Amino acid sequence: MNSLNIAFIGGGNMARSIVGGLVKQDYRPENICVSDPNPPKLEALAADFGIRVNSDNTLTVAEAAVVILAVKPQAMKAVCLALRPHLPASALIISIAAGISCTSISQWLGAERHLVRCMPNTPALVQMGASGLFAAAGVTAAEKAMAEHIMAAVGTVAWVQDEDLLHAVTAVSGSGPAYFFLFLEAMAQAGVQQGLDPATARHLAVQTAAGAARLAQADNTELAELRRRVTSPGGTTEKAIAAFEQRHLRETVDIAMQACANRSRELAELLGR
Ligand SMILES: NC(=O)c1ccc[n+]([C@@H]2O[C@H](COP(=O)([O-])OP(=O)(O)OC[C@H]3O[C@@H](n4cnc5c(N)ncnc54)[C@H](OP(=O)(O)O)[C@@H]3O)[C@@H](O)[C@H]2O)c1
Repeated sequence: MNSLNIAFIGGGNMARSIVGGLVKQDYRPENICVSDPNPPKLEALAADFGIRVNSDNTLTVAEAAVVILAVKPQAMKAVCLALRPHLPASALIISIAAGISCTSISQWLGAERHLVRCMPNTPALVQMGASGLFAAAGVTAAEKAMAEHIMAAVGTVAWVQDEDLLHAVTAVSGSGPAYFFLFLEAMAQAGVQQGLDPATARHLAVQTAAGAARLAQADNTELAELRRRVTSPGGTTEKAIAAFEQRHLRETVDIAMQACANRSRELAELLGR
């Protein structure tokens, strides 16, 4: 699988992180080609990873077994319509564009395409991503394995069987890093209010989040039980948790994630036309 010809359309942040992960996983750089309209981005990608680059999308896909569409959702329609006559018939198409449905992409690229949609997140930049994947009708088991292998280069993957669930994936992991950054901001700020210097408050908050996440990954115990283990009756943590619960933290999270998924549906509708 490491010798597949992979073409990226769009050489921005996400493409860079996936390329970096693939090269680290011993995918052959000479089999990876990225196209983008910005020469400095292409030069940097070629210099950093030894891959091929091209400013012409049509040449980039010419011999690709897998084409990864990594442009902004707003650019997808024009990019797909222009690529349509040039895509190899057998290429697997992986779209990482948020919100753009398989129906829209198939309308633009042709219904016969084998298509996987992927919702990654920014920790992919440090190979700690979490991606949701959906395979449209007609995608084979071998193609699913290819898509999974590629996205596993930047983190973990989870398949959903219903495309609509990618809105829920967006609400959990796609937008999720921002929720944790907000929580970390609030924790660091509260630490400063209590007298810590900003650098120490930030360091302690960030390391605590990383440690808690690592602990939850290492131990498959229920999350509520992991919480209970640090919440001694009558102790300090119990007071903090009670304050969160009294102020309806769970309800707030639920409302926020519903708002996120709803916006994801609205954008899909708007940009998929
Ligand atoms: N970042 C995230 O957290 C995240 C999470 C989930 C999904 N995604 C999805 O990942 C995709 C890429 O996001 P990103 O953050 O990597 O965006 P990005 O950094 O803006 O990268 C997109 C690149 O595509 C280039 N481009 C524009 N038109 C093009 C064309 N016609 N042909 C080839 N390249 C073209 C852009 O150039 P210009 O800058 O000149 O326009 C830019 O370099 C988006 O669809 C986004 O929805 C991102």
